[in-house]
Amino acid sequence: MSSDEIREKYLKFFEERGHARIEPSPLVLENDPTTLFTSAGMQPLVPYLKGEPHPKGKRLVDIQPSFRTVDIDEVGDNRHLTFFEMLGNWSLGDYFKKDQLEWCLEFFIEELGLAKDKLWVSVFEGTKEVPKDTESTEVWKSLGIPEDRIFYYGVKENWWSRRGTPEAMPTGEIGGPDSEVFFEFDIPHDPKFGEKCHPNCNCGRFIEIGNSVFIQYQKKGDGTLSELPQKNVDFGGGVERIAAAVNNTPDIFQTDIFKPTIAKLEEETKNKYGEAEEKDRRFRVIADHLRAAVAIASEGVYPSNKQQGYILRRLIRRAALNLQKLSKASALSLSEEVTKSLTEKEETATLIGEEVGKFEKALKKGEAMVKGHPKLDPFDLYQSYGIPYEVSEELFHDAGRALTEKDKKDFEEKLAKHQKLSRELSAGVFKGGLADTSREVVRLHTATHLIHAALRKILGEHVSQKGSNITSERLRFDFSHPEKLSEEEIKKIEDLVNEQIEKDLQVSFEEKTYDEASQEGALAFFGEKYGKKVKMYTIGDFSKEVCGGPHVKSTSEIGHVKIIKQEKLGAGVVRIYATIEVK
Ligand code: SER
Repeated sequence: MSSDEIREKYLKFFEERGHARIEPSPLVLENDPTTLFTSAGMQPLVPYLKGEPHPKGKRLVDIQPSFRTVDIDEVGDNRHLTFFEMLGNWSLGDYFKKDQLEWCLEFFIEELGLAKDKLWVSVFEGTKEVPKDTESTEVWKSLGIPEDRIFYYGVKENWWSRRGTPEAMPTGEIGGPDSEVFFEFDIPHDPKFGEKCHPNCNCGRFIEIGNSVFIQYQKKGDGTLSELPQKNVDFGGGVERIAAAVNNTPDIFQTDIFKPTIAKLEEETKNKYGEAEEKDRRFRVIADHLRAAVAIASEGVYPSNKQQGYILRRLIRRAALNLQKLSKASALSLSEEVTKSLTEKEETATLIGEEVGKFEKALKKGEAMVKGHPKLDPFDLYQSYGIPYEVSEELFHDAGRALTEKDKKDFEEKLAKHQKLSRELSAGVFKGGLADTSREVVRLHTATHLIHAALRKILGEHVSQKGSNITSERLRFDFSHPEKLSEEEIKKIEDLVNEQIEKDLQVSFEEKTYDEASQEGALAFFGEKYGKKVKMYTIGDFSKEVCGGPHVKSTSEIGHVKIIKQEKLGAGVVRIYATIEVK
């Protein structure tokens, strides 16, 4: 059975039982600063689980793309993913345990054809505050699940909230006991994971295919739990895992969801999947991470050093590293082939390719550096090439040096200090819309001056700066101009900027009074922001601007500038975005 059939059957099954289909939320929630990604179908439904009426009623169903950073290090085995699709149905104070568990079983057995004797379940064993869930046990028994396939677990396994156990829930958070269904594969228990096998054993014999959470509690300020005004059901089941069970393959990477990617990787890297555990782990990390990266990047996230962008960067870089280990071919072209098979959006594939390209270049330089200087400080490697500690470990290992727990501590301390300093600097001295003072930001800052001057030379002197914002991945520049730029104008501006870069013009500054600087023709549109003495930055004879810095020393440090997007912001203001292209 294909995963599409599973999705369709699920929606239909619950629609037939009075559930309204709702649109899934985006992966990056716009108005929720508490979380980076949607990680469960219930996340956008929290107000309704707390009692607010939902416009579509009390019974809802959907399929929610979800991303869980907590699982990132688990990826590589036969069943963990960062990005997955979650089948979800909800009762907002309507039906409860009996209907939910009955339908859940009916769906797995009647609709998907899973053998009843391969299904095991788990139930909440209770705490001092919350009673043992004997009600669910009775329902399972009445449905024909024998007692020896019903297991009790505590808060770690059978309590669900977005933050985990009742203790970890912050005030106001909702949650409750849950009951999970597991599918048993025909494979022996691996004693490496403990003497006895059981549904929550990690040996891979069991896979969890569905979780019915009975959300009926809310955490109070005094640390205890109170009953919500209504008793809810929150069911979630991963499509990828259900597909593995339905097709009786313990490896989710053998389902139709991943097969094409694995096949593509086999073809491109000239390796076979299923031959060696170490290689299989690499295949899985690449397949999961690139799929997740495509999903995240498709929602407009760029790789960066912060928040969602940081996760995206980590996913892409880890995939790139594993690609390099699997094949001598360039990770850039390999990743392009794989991402092209995962998305039709060309810009997404390009964005991922660029990040892989950047990483590959940095890695090559780092590798050479470590070979020549095995005593080098891993933090210097991070600062010069952005190579994370865990990657450094491998590079140093190849160069014959095993990094120690002390090395690691030293790195972490230096990193924390560096981050603190750059926060202070960006909050204080270097205003002017810079996210931080990293190498990328500084390069883009000088590029902004070049663009500003070029805009005035090509479009006319009416162009003046209205705003500027720079992050490590792009610059954003707002300026006065009546309409969007034509392709020809964009090309002319880019060419003019890149000509200056190639000329390797010197960037220098002098301290002047504000008046002196303006008399010399320096652009200074935010005069009121500067003190009496200002810095006037000059780039060759191309640009003169009053600015706090920092800048590169000469333009060849910038790289090739490309305008990637423009918008009309309103009357007479245009916004452009530009990046530094990897050549
Ligand atoms: N919220 C639960 C989960 O994510 C069930 O939907 O597992």
